[in-house]
Formats: sequence, structure tokens, C-alpha cells
Amino acid sequence: TIVVADTGDIDAIRRFEPTDATTNPSLILQAAQLKGRRERLAEIARRATDLDDALDAVAVEIGSEISSLVPGYVSTEVSARLSFDTDATLARARSLIERYARHGIGPERILIKIAATWEGIRAAQQLEREGIHTNLTLLFSFAQAQACADAGVTLISPFVGRILDWHRAQSPEADFSGDRDPGVQSVKRIYEHYKGHGYHTIVMGASFRNAGEILALAGCDRLTISPALLGELADTRGTLERRLVPEDAETSGLEPLDEAE
Ligand code: E4P
Repeated sequence: TIVVADTGDIDAIRRFEPTDATTNPSLILQAAQLKGRRERLAEIARRATDLDDALDAVAVEIGSEISSLVPGYVSTEVSARLSFDTDATLARARSLIERYARHGIGPERILIKIAATWEGIRAAQQLEREGIHTNLTLLFSFAQAQACADAGVTLISPFVGRILDWHRAQSPEADFSGDRDPGVQSVKRIYEHYKGHGYHTIVMGASFRNAGEILALAGCDRLTISPALLGELADTRGTLERRLVPEDAETSGLEPLDEAE
């Protein structure tokens, strides 16, 4: 399992040495407010033509810094406001890639993160044809995962914690630990279906609420993990990746795939 940091916090990335990093608008906002970065990023935002332009400029500025620290992919999200508009998503994705190019970073390093709505998946299918890699997020169901595989997207981010949050709200007394966690079950089902059918799309579990969920998914292609949970699990990528081998973890039963990278 490849360890991914779910953060825009540069210091956390230096500390945990992940292979990839994922961001979203709220993580970018948190990172932009960190001491030592606020002034420079506020200046970049002030030069922007409108709010969208400011958000993208700051996201790419932080993403570029991250890409100099990680060897793999950096995910940058298209605003969820555009989730039901294929053409607007396409335009924003292409403009993010152009911004990265101005920082000297090629499309092979970037995953454009897009909500896995029908319109988002159609946009991703087109972007992949253009050589722009995509990460389909806000993915809660098997049907979304199937549509993403059919569209040939580079990576999906099936959520764990938000599924658990919903079930907990319905049944506050229920035991959702270990394999009883419905978010863990959802990711496992998707992973096994993908591998059983030979899909190339990478499965990256996301939205974790506790370390047990992460260990229960050992063997999954990638897991994107907050700095708080990375801190609980291990200190560096190497240490954690050694723990996320299924035999050593809590019997996830997931067979790791041979990464074609
Ligand atoms: C990563 O792709 C997601 O943006 C992130 O894991 C969401 O986590 P949350 O459910 O804690 O917001």
C-alpha cells in the first residue's frame, strides 16, 4: 500500500514523507492560513481576477511546493460547486494543468480531483483522453466506482469515514469496529471487484476517522491519511508502508496489486 498524505500542510509532508499528497479546498484554506505562508498566499490571491482564480492560484502555489517534496502525484480539486457541470469542470481542470505548467510541473505529476457525479465522470473520461490524469472523489457507492472504471479514470477515492458517519447517525449504539465498519466494507467490495475484473484504475481509500479503518484496508493500492492519523500510525512513509502489508495488519484479506508505475 502506498501512503498518501491528505493535507496541504508542507511541514506535515516534510515530516511524514508520503509518496503522494491529496488536497481539497478546505485543506488548501487551512494550509494557506498557517503561519509563515499567510502573507505570500494572500498577495497571490490579491492579484487574482476573481474568487475562482484566487482559489486556483493558491491551490497550485501550494500544490507546486508539495510536488517538490513528494515523488508521486499531487491531487488538486476542481471546486465541488462545478460538480454537475461537465464543461465547467473541463475548463477548470485544463486551466489548473496550465497553471502547473507555468510552475514547470507536467501533467504526469498531477491528479485533477473531481466529484464522482455523472457529469464529473464524463469530464474525467474526456480529460484522460487528453492526457490529464484524474482522481474521482466523493465516491460512496459501488455504482459510482463501476462508472469510474468504465470511464478509465486514473484513480478513485472511495470514502470510508463519511459512510461511517452516516451509519453512526442512524444507529448510535451499533458496533462498527473493524470489518463491521460500513465504509471499510464499501472500499473492500470496490477493490475486490476492480482486481477481479482487471481494471487499471487505482483504488485509494480516503476519509478516515480512526487508525483501525486504515489497518483494515492494508493491501489497498493507496490510502490517503491525515497528518493526525499518520502520526498515530508511524513516523515515516517507509515504516507505515511496511505495516500496511495485509499479513502484518489486521487480516484485511486484500491482495496487494502489482503497481504498474
Ligand atoms: C480525500 O480525497 C478527501 O478529500 C478527504 O479524505 C475527505 O475526508 P473527510 O471526510 O474527513 O472530509
